[in-house]
Amino acid sequence: MSTNTIDNKRKVTTLRLGEMKARGEKIAMLTAYDYSMARLVDQAGMDVILVGDSASNVMAGNTTTLPMTLDQMIYHAQCVTKGVERALVVCDMPFGSYQGNSKQALASSIRIMKESNAEAVKLEGGSEIAESVSRILSAGIPVMGHLGLTPQSINKFGTYAVRARQEAEARKLIEDAKLLEELGCFAIVLEKIPAELAERVTKMLDIPTIGIGAGSGTDGQVLVLQDMLGINREFTPKFLRRYADLGTTITNAVGNYINDVKTGDFPNADEQY
Ligand code: KIV
Repeated sequence: MSTNTIDNKRKVTTLRLGEMKARGEKIAMLTAYDYSMARLVDQAGMDVILVGDSASNVMAGNTTTLPMTLDQMIYHAQCVTKGVERALVVCDMPFGSYQGNSKQALASSIRIMKESNAEAVKLEGGSEIAESVSRILSAGIPVMGHLGLTPQSINKFGTYAVRARQEAEARKLIEDAKLLEELGCFAIVLEKIPAELAERVTKMLDIPTIGIGAGSGTDGQVLVLQDMLGINREFTPKFLRRYADLGTTITNAVGNYINDVKTGDFPNADEQY
């Protein structure tokens, strides 16, 4: 049962997320990539569902998010929006669909909105992508920012370690957060940065921050669904809390099915016509 009892039936909008921050209500966000899971996550009372490009890792088995294409993101977002009634659905813009070319960024975001029914897009980066963010916003498309560890830049970072521990990087992150708010982003994801810095940025901004590996001082939290459900068992970072061990549940269930088929126990007399 969801513990979120405030306005539980009312559709979540970008405006409502701002209201939630203003009254101190934490924002819950999870990823989803398909209809069945999105439906369950929405029915549990989730505020925001992110069609993350982490689909590249947990759905497609890639080691980075870079191979994800615009068509693939639109496909996942189409599946998710069909299962969602209440949550705000945000779709990641994939690597190569917005960096360095704001006209292409606008065209990519319009395709996402038109073809998938998602309600907002998320882009990674700060000042480097300011022109793309502005152009997308000028078309009336809500933008969620993403700072700190930005997995599409893994080849530049060379590591998935905590970001902005050093003064210079922390300062740039603060400036980028202010810039994204000024440009008109409705929220910012802060990934894998020191908790103290995340709290400082959160207090500085009027728009909500959503943390992942960024401590408890942000306005909300996000996790990858497969990670928190224990389906993606190999991924065990410090920040991850597992809420279920579905990996074991699924392998046990599948093992029992195999056994029943092999022994002739399934189907029984009641399970046939
Ligand atoms: O792609 C994703 O799942 C994300 C979250 C980790 C924030 O960007």
